[in-house]
Amino acid sequence: MEPFGPRRQVEIYSRSPGSPEPLPIGFQEWEARARAILADGPFDYVAGGAGREDTMRANREAFERRRIHPRMLRDVAERDLTIELFGVHVPAPIILAPVGVQSIIHPQAERAPARAAASSGIPFTLSTVSSVTIEQIAAEMGTALRWFQLYPGRDRAVMNSLVSRAEAAGYRCLILTVDTTMLGWRERDLRKSYLPFMHGEGMANYLSDPVFRSQLSSPPEVDPRSAVLHFLDIYVNPSFTWDDVDFLRTQTRMPIVLKGILHPDDAREALTHGIDGIVVSNHGGRQVDGGVATLDVLPAVCAAVGDRVPVLMDSGIRSGADVVKALALGARAVLIGRPYLYALAAAGEDGVRAVIRNLLAELDLQLALSGCSSLAGIGPDLLWQSQAHSLDVR
Ligand SMILES: Cc1cc2nc3c(=O)[nH]c(=O)nc-3n(C[C@H](O)[C@H](O)[C@H](O)COP(=O)(O)O)c2cc1C
Repeated sequence: MEPFGPRRQVEIYSRSPGSPEPLPIGFQEWEARARAILADGPFDYVAGGAGREDTMRANREAFERRRIHPRMLRDVAERDLTIELFGVHVPAPIILAPVGVQSIIHPQAERAPARAAASSGIPFTLSTVSSVTIEQIAAEMGTALRWFQLYPGRDRAVMNSLVSRAEAAGYRCLILTVDTTMLGWRERDLRKSYLPFMHGEGMANYLSDPVFRSQLSSPPEVDPRSAVLHFLDIYVNPSFTWDDVDFLRTQTRMPIVLKGILHPDDAREALTHGIDGIVVSNHGGRQVDGGVATLDVLPAVCAAVGDRVPVLMDSGIRSGADVVKALALGARAVLIGRPYLYALAAAGEDGVRAVIRNLLAELDLQLALSGCSSLAGIGPDLLWQSQAHSLDVR
């Protein structure tokens, strides 16, 4: 198959004059479009982070501090971006991150990114707190690759029910998000008193769940307020520990991947609990403020894990260059959040598809122009290490 980069360039450059690519190309343009379309509440819910948003800034600074150090005169005509993840071939090391309540962004909600991911072959991760059910997304995606994200809930019976529904509906991986045992302190949302769940948004999987429904004294259609309150009571769980992870391990055959690991010791512990993968993530800076950047801790987590399970990462990825940097520091693949959310707001399914295709194209070209024809040989050498090089001047 023709590589992603030139294929996409030709497609865009060969549009007839006067009808240029109508959609934005870069992250900032998409963000500006979303800003113009969304009301303040939903826009800030997506764009914001915890506290002073220091972690969010640190995520970006960590990417900006690193520089790709390209190599020349290597044959890069044939390129291969495919990877294997949890026994499945994926065309490129990019995954759509789990993001809840997408109904606040676009009327199609999760259906649009699910379809866009399906048409590109990259995995789509459905959030526990999605606006469309597990089964509806499975129906949209057919046989395409999908993962399910689980919040550590307070009620094991409801959690088990969600997990078995996901498994039955053909989701191939369970992403257990461990950094959200409660909501972070989000100033933008607090200032506006904006939390979508309070209005019943993001509850599709619960309202359609027989176990959840059996716990309500009247059906949610009759008493929606009680359903919201029960949901708020159980959807996250501050008491969640490694014992609960062990229990979950016995409940599903899907690979379990912990999302939100930042410390090498937690990564080591995860291995002793039979975990199949790690996502180094700080939830896009939405949970702990003043926290470490994911790119900064990625090498230490990768060193702790070795090649026993794949280490993925997210938080701050905005371009193909960022993906290259993450791969160079040991990530097997990356997840993207806000880049596809802004595209969803601005242009629905077409927008998300454009973001995916542009990111794949840019990644392909970035790697080729840096002298890499496959992901296998990418390592820290691909990044400029100013100290090491200044010692090596001959
Ligand atoms: C609006 C929004 C909602 C999110 N909802 C979830 C969620 O339901 N479950 C989850 O595990 N992570 C959630 N995340 C975190 C993302 O999965 C991902 O870690 C983060 O967006 C990556 O950072 P980035 O947005 O800088 O790419 C959410 C992020 C955003 C921006």
